[in-house]
Amino acid sequence: MHASILAPSILAGDHANLAASAAIVEQLGVSWLHLDIMDGHFVPNLSFGPQTVAALRKNSKLFFDVHLMLDEPHRYIESFAKAGANLISIHIEPAYDHAATLARIHSLGCKNGIVLNPGTPASAIEPFLGQVDLVLVMTVQPGFGGQSFKREMLAKIAQIDTWRKDRKLDFRLEVDGGIDLATAAECRQVGTDTFVAGTSFFAAPDRAAFVATMARL
Ligand code: DX5
Ligand code: ZN
Repeated sequence: MHASILAPSILAGDHANLAASAAIVEQLGVSWLHLDIMDGHFVPNLSFGPQTVAALRKNSKLFFDVHLMLDEPHRYIESFAKAGANLISIHIEPAYDHAATLARIHSLGCKNGIVLNPGTPASAIEPFLGQVDLVLVMTVQPGFGGQSFKREMLAKIAQIDTWRKDRKLDFRLEVDGGIDLATAAECRQVGTDTFVAGTSFFAAPDRAAFVATMARL
C-alpha cells in the first residue's frame, strides 16, 4: 500500500496571490500541489490555465498534480506539460481518445491519471488501469470547492483498490472533494493513498497539525 500523500488544492488558496498559497504548502513540507483546471463547459466554473501554472512553476518545487476538468483535455496536454505539470489527470466522461491521450501525457514526460465523477461507474475506467499512474475518484461533483463528501463513493474506491491488488498494479488511488481528516480516514480504510484537500487544508487552524495527521493515515 502506498504511503499517504496530501495534495492541497490551490483552488481554495488566495486567487489574488496563488504563489503565496503554493509557498505555504511548500513551507509545511508537503510535496504535492493539486491544480484544478476548469473550462466552464465540463464543469460550471472557470479557474485558470497553463500561463498561471507556468508562473507558479517558476517559484515552486512542488509536484504539480494537474486535474483537467475540460471537455476537450486532449487539446491542452502539451500546453500543461510545457507549463510544468508533473502529473496530468483527465476525465473519462468526455468523448475523446482516452488511451491515446493517456499515452501522449507519458510521451511528454508527465505521469498520467484517469478521473471519474460520482455518477460514473468504476467499470468506465477499468480498461485503462494498466496504463495509468493514478486513478482519481471524485467524491463531489466537480466544479467547486467546499462541497460535502459523498460517502457512497467508498464502495467505488474499494472496488478499484481490489482490482489494483488482484492485477498487481501500482497506480495511486486519489480522492478529491470534501476531504478532511475524518473523511480521509474513511477513504484510507478502503485503499485511498492520495488525498486532495482544498477547503479543509487552507481553513485548518493549525495547518502543520493537519499535515502531520494526514501523513499518519
Ligand atoms: C472540485 C475540485 C476539488 C476542490 C477541492 O471540482 O476538483 O479539487 O478544489 O475541494 P475541497 O475544497 O472540498 O477540498
Ligand atoms: Zn481537483
